[in-house]
Amino acid sequence: MTKTLFTNIGSLVMPATEVSVLETLSNAAFVVENGLVAWVGDVAAAPSCDLVVDVAGACVIPGFVDSHAHLMFAGSREQEFAARMAGVSYSAGGIKTTVSKTRAASDEELRSNAKKLIAELYQSGVTHFEIKSGYGLDVETELRSLKIARELTEDTTFLGAHVVPQDQDPQRYVELVATEMLSAVKPFAKWIDVFCDKGAFDLAQTRRVLEAGIAQGLRPRLHANQISDLGAISLAVELDCASIDHCTHLSDSDIELLANSNTVATLLPGAEFSTRSAFPDAKRLFAAGVTVALATDCNPGSSFTTSMPFCIAVAVRDMGFTIDQAVWSATRGGALALRDETRGALRVGMRADFAILDAPNHLFLAYRPGVQLVAATYVAGKKVYGR
Ligand code: NIG
Ligand code: FE
Repeated sequence: MTKTLFTNIGSLVMPATEVSVLETLSNAAFVVENGLVAWVGDVAAAPSCDLVVDVAGACVIPGFVDSHAHLMFAGSREQEFAARMAGVSYSAGGIKTTVSKTRAASDEELRSNAKKLIAELYQSGVTHFEIKSGYGLDVETELRSLKIARELTEDTTFLGAHVVPQDQDPQRYVELVATEMLSAVKPFAKWIDVFCDKGAFDLAQTRRVLEAGIAQGLRPRLHANQISDLGAISLAVELDCASIDHCTHLSDSDIELLANSNTVATLLPGAEFSTRSAFPDAKRLFAAGVTVALATDCNPGSSFTTSMPFCIAVAVRDMGFTIDQAVWSATRGGALALRDETRGALRVGMRADFAILDAPNHLFLAYRPGVQLVAATYVAGKKVYGR
């Protein structure tokens, strides 16, 4: 078995496994064998290997884990974004525009659009990503979306309950999602998700869909509290959702509930940025001991970015994260939001998924916003982006 030594690392970022703390090792090296980290330590103590990659003093971080990405869609909505920047407020209604385009797209168009976005994710240092459906909203297109998503990631999410499609009765649509649509997509989906918010689904409808998914062996996660607080946090905690995403509006009791649960709060800086909404305050979450993840929420409506460094910069600048907390939330936090013990840190036995930065340390990720600092990205020890 080939052993590769990555050495001469100026700063190796080591997220703690459970708490949002980063350690850094200077003068570090690690060994990759069979796609996994086989050894980590000081350059001077490194074992001899078949191949050596000298990173010349660069910073190495674990790859970002993007636990929230809507990559199955066609078309774009730049006019809607421009109108928002001119003062129009965001509503879930725009999702329907993307639904028409997605239904009309061929499998090949959907696949190549997603692959293009995945190439961008790699360029931004993301090494693992979730993919949601939710722009089909009929049995055929949700099924096509999830079949293609399953070719591209193991973390596929059925979001048939994204919004009620045009001219359909909400209750009948909820029943369609919870029965026929769910049965059709089940072989291709790991997770079930609902957008529980004003203009989307209420609490009773959300419970109906999540419980149906759980009964079929899917695992629950939620979009909620982006536009309003319908009481979704207690439902998410009750059903042991892996993550509740957006969390723009949270009461003190919501935070208390999250702090005493296994549910991660995933914040999506791109969404507040692109909808010109007030940012949530992550300090309240960290102070209470909530586990926090950061994700791109890449989608053509509310957050058309694949850049995790951009999300980190906004989280630090506008959401009260320290840089260490933001980097932790984008790596280990994302892995915990997917209940994934194998990713989000570079420890012996974990996946060798990492990014080499054109920077001496991880502080540059927020300090140099908008600059391509990711020089190379590796998944399972193999380069997927970079020189
Ligand atoms: O996560 N909030 C709901 N869904 C997406 C928005 C989708 C859209 O506007 O197309 C989100 O932000
Ligand atoms: Fe989303």
